[in-house]
Amino acid sequence: MSDDKTNENGVSRRQVLIGTGALAAGAAVSGFGNLVKSAEAKDGSTEKWPWPYVKLDPQETAEIAYKEWYRVFCGGAVISSVIGQLREKVGGPYKSFPIDSFVFLEGGQVGWGTICGSPAGANIVANLIIGPRIAGAHEGHLIAADNMDFYSKANMPVFVPKNPKIDPSKIVHTVSDSPLCHISVGKWMKKAGLPLKSKERKDRCARVAASSAYRLVEMLNAWHDGTYKKTNDFSCSKENGITGQYNCEDCHGDDVPDAPEA
Ligand code: HEC
Repeated sequence: MSDDKTNENGVSRRQVLIGTGALAAGAAVSGFGNLVKSAEAKDGSTEKWPWPYVKLDPQETAEIAYKEWYRVFCGGAVISSVIGQLREKVGGPYKSFPIDSFVFLEGGQVGWGTICGSPAGANIVANLIIGPRIAGAHEGHLIAADNMDFYSKANMPVFVPKNPKIDPSKIVHTVSDSPLCHISVGKWMKKAGLPLKSKERKDRCARVAASSAYRLVEMLNAWHDGTYKKTNDFSCSKENGITGQYNCEDCHGDDVPDAPEA
């Protein structure tokens, strides 16, 4: 364990082990300004989370994510940028976390263009650190929705690395209005007039991963300080009776279907 002061107030000391099988909504400890819940697996396995967090530097994290993209692509890069540092600073469970297994998040999961690996990776990290969603709104869940919201609405890529592989003036910016890799990459390729295999497209995606890692760490740091407030107002399934994005018209045009009611 690191002797970092923030770590002394870290999650592990606040963790409440709430007996096998019980996920009691009331088993929450506050007192450091944030709410922490932890769970033990029902089947008697050694599964325990959340994992301890110490504050990281968003800039440094984003630089790592940018470099790591060229090794393990978007999802792997975001995960590696945070987990890799926590391996050094916290150790413990982070040492056995299989970062490279998340290389499959690339291309919206093995090239299928579904959720982009950047928000997917960021959500894996946030939920690992903040813990299971036990009941209702939960900070891991809220940060995950903020990751999606940020990714969809930002003029990407936001982050500019210190030593870019491609001249920043050659990288155009687009708003995806979607967390889907296909839409995000497609809108960018259309504006840039460049193919998927271009160096610019690759560097754009490396910067998108870095931008996502930056935003994630900003939120995790705020959560650690007890100052995190969600910035999204997403409630698609409640409003529309179907899971989805916020912008139905993007795909359905003016003719958005109604979901069957309960
Ligand atoms: C990324 C594209 C996309 C977005 C965004 C999207 N949809 Fe869809 N949706 C589809 C596709 C494709 C289908 C399947 C259509 C079909 O079978 O004809 C579908 C199906 C549906 C269905 C099932 C019933 C039907 O008539 O097909 C409903 C209800 C629906 N969408 C509502 C919504 C609502 C409400 C939103 C916004 C909150 C939304 N959709 C956003 C692509 C999208």
